[in-house]
Parts: sequence; C-alpha cells; structure tokens
Amino acid sequence: MDKTIVVASTNEGKLREFRQMLEPEGYRVLSLADLDHPFEIEENGTTFQENAVIKAQSVVDEFHIPAIADDSGLCIKCLNDEPGVHSARWLGHDTSYDIKNQKVLELVKDAKDRSCYYACAIAWCAPDQEPAVFYDTWEGEIAKEPRGTNGFGYDPIIYIPSYGKTAAEMSREEKNAVSHRAKALRKLEDWLRETH
Ligand code: IMP
Repeated sequence: MDKTIVVASTNEGKLREFRQMLEPEGYRVLSLADLDHPFEIEENGTTFQENAVIKAQSVVDEFHIPAIADDSGLCIKCLNDEPGVHSARWLGHDTSYDIKNQKVLELVKDAKDRSCYYACAIAWCAPDQEPAVFYDTWEGEIAKEPRGTNGFGYDPIIYIPSYGKTAAEMSREEKNAVSHRAKALRKLEDWLRETH
C-alpha cells in the first residue's frame, strides 16, 4: 500500500515533528511545497478543529491523497479566549511577538484571573473518509513580564505553574513532553496505530 501523506503546511518546525512521527510508521511525508501547485488555504473556521479540517480537506479535494493539518493558538480567559484562532494574525501577521506580548500584558494587567491555555487541533483527512480530529490543551497563566528565549510566539509570557517557569524557559524536551501540540500528536499517533 502506498503510504503517502501531505502535511498541509510549509512550517519547517511542524513538518519536522510530523516526519519524526510518521516516517518510522512507513509513511512518505510530503509538504505543500512538494506539490505541483502550492496554493493558499483560507483559514475561515471559528474553531481550531474546523480550521485544521479546512486545511487538510482542501489538500485532499485538490490532490486526492491523505493529508494532515494542525491549527493552534493561545486562549486567554479574561479576554474571552482571544486571540484564539486569530493568534497568528492578531495585531497583524508581521507584527513581532515582542509587541504582541507587550500588548497582552497591558490588556491583562488589572485582571484577577490571568489563566490561559494553548490549544491544538490536528486533522487527518483522506478521500471518501470522514475527517478524524485530535485536540488537546496546555494550561498556564499570563506571566507578569516576558522571560526566556526558547520556544516561539507567546511562550515568553506563558507561565507554567507546575514547572515554575515560562514556556520560553523550558527546554525543548520539557515542552515536547507536555505541550498542547505534543499531546494532540500523541492522540493521532495512538489512533494511527489502532486503525492503519
Ligand atoms: P497556526 O500556524 O495557524 O496553527 O498558528 C498558531 C499560532 O498560535 C502561532 O503563530 C502562535 O501565535 C500561537 N501558538 C500556537 N502554539 C504555540 C506555542 O507552542 N508557543 C507559542 N505560540 C503558539
């Protein structure tokens, strides 16, 4: 059986994680950049799950091969779970995270409840099949100030109480053991082992 799968992303970090999981299971992993007609996918869903399915299904519809996609973001309770699905484009796609993180700190400065969570949905879509979606979260609090240089995005302002440090102060190994993306990825991995 040809086990080719497209990861509907051009993000090298995400591709590496998916390759590490799928190649040992015998999959040939392609990215959007490997397809003849790379195309823009509009993420217009209102949930992480919807957006992940939109991305993966659009590849299936166009190329008739299985595809996976993920969608993730940061939800801040006192901001009605914003930026949520808008996390990447919040304040503008090209705005630096130094600026985005300062803005978050300013918005929550008087809040009693600084709790937040990262969310990640991963969709597996294939021709003539219902999408399978895997979802998980990683709870934290908005820190008082940015700390740490590891990770990316909002990590310097996400304080993880059980580690006593921000996500950007955690090593890659520590983050990969407990993060939203890692946990959703493990659910996908378990499902694949059971069903394929
Ligand atoms: P996506 O590529 O559409 O899934 O966008 C995810 C966005 O959510 C990123 O650009 C970040 O703004 C935010 N995000 C998701 N996961 C993380 C994380 O682990 N650390 C920091 N920011 C994250």
